[in-house]
Amino acid sequence: MKKIYIAGCGGMLGDAFYKVFKENYQLKCTDKDVNEDWISFLDFRDFERYEKDVKDFNPDFLFHLGAHTDLEYCSDNPEDAYLNNTIAVEKAVRIANGLRIPILYIGTAGIFDGQKERYDDWDQPNPVNVYGRSKYLGEKIIQSSAYDYLICRAGWMVGGGPKKDKKYINKIMNQIKNGSKELHVIDGCGGIPTYTYDFARNVKLLIERGERGLYNMVCKGENTDNRLAVTNELVKILGREDEIKVVPVSEEFFKEEYYAKRPPAERLLNRKLELKKLNIMRPWQICLKEYIEENYKECIKNTNNRI
Ligand SMILES: NC(=O)c1ccc[n+]([C@@H]2O[C@H](COP(=O)([O-])OP(=O)(O)OC[C@H]3O[C@@H](n4cnc5c(N)ncnc54)[C@H](OP(=O)(O)O)[C@@H]3O)[C@@H](O)[C@H]2O)c1
Repeated sequence: MKKIYIAGCGGMLGDAFYKVFKENYQLKCTDKDVNEDWISFLDFRDFERYEKDVKDFNPDFLFHLGAHTDLEYCSDNPEDAYLNNTIAVEKAVRIANGLRIPILYIGTAGIFDGQKERYDDWDQPNPVNVYGRSKYLGEKIIQSSAYDYLICRAGWMVGGGPKKDKKYINKIMNQIKNGSKELHVIDGCGGIPTYTYDFARNVKLLIERGERGLYNMVCKGENTDNRLAVTNELVKILGREDEIKVVPVSEEFFKEEYYAKRPPAERLLNRKLELKKLNIMRPWQICLKEYIEENYKECIKNTNNRI
């Protein structure tokens, strides 16, 4: 069995990676948040310990998954954002290079400025906030200095379940669980969901085929997909269109809570995956339905409400 070391595996994406890879690979999963018995502690800002831990395991692949993903935290703490999301990547590359093994890095759609409807794998990034910049710099480090690498870029992450999801779906589901009958959603915020399970499966396919380089990897979606479309679909999956109103609001509405600058759109196009016939990402509506049925079954009113 080949061995994979996964750093920052305690989050939404790490959960799916563990489930998808554990059957065929020997894994060592670490995080600074030890929230499962298959995770051991490592803060990858402790570079010496990171190196020793990886070397002791002697893996065939290093997955550097973790990052600070909260845009407001990154804006408020730029030093830590760059240390965690950028400088730690330099170290990860040095560790992987030392072992002559490939490294996997997770990129984000949030490195674009949203002036285009859709961005393919070759479009020029132009981040508008600290998080986006710290992640784009991480990509550049990998591309310029890794001996062998795979970069896969995700969009709006869907996954992890209520325990690990710190992002949009769980925030909305918490409002619904608390009895909210009106959901305020920013109008005109464009993006495409990425189901963590599909993402992990697509990464596995690339690895099994020996593919390397940079790939956009979001669910199948449209140039018009946005927060409103995702929220309306969520309410439809729950069978609650009659009782829950989705109310479009401007960015101004959330300016206290979400004050970090955001691009008006961050939609990726999986052009390389498509051209190479390696795109196994499903339409986001199907993924969202599967995810909600598995994780929030108690909130579904009408299970006959099929897509
Ligand atoms: N979430 C999205 O919408 C999204 C979209 C595109 C790309 N991505 C990228 O996908 C990757 C995985 O993110 P995710 O969505 O799974 O986010 P997540 O749920 O926040 O998971 C990230 C994990 O990394 C951990 N971590 C952060 N800094 C660490 C450190 N110094 N040492 C060890 N562990 C550390 C976090 O621990 P704490 O919780 O204790 O900080 C968390 O458990 C990241 O590289 C992210 O940039 C995410």
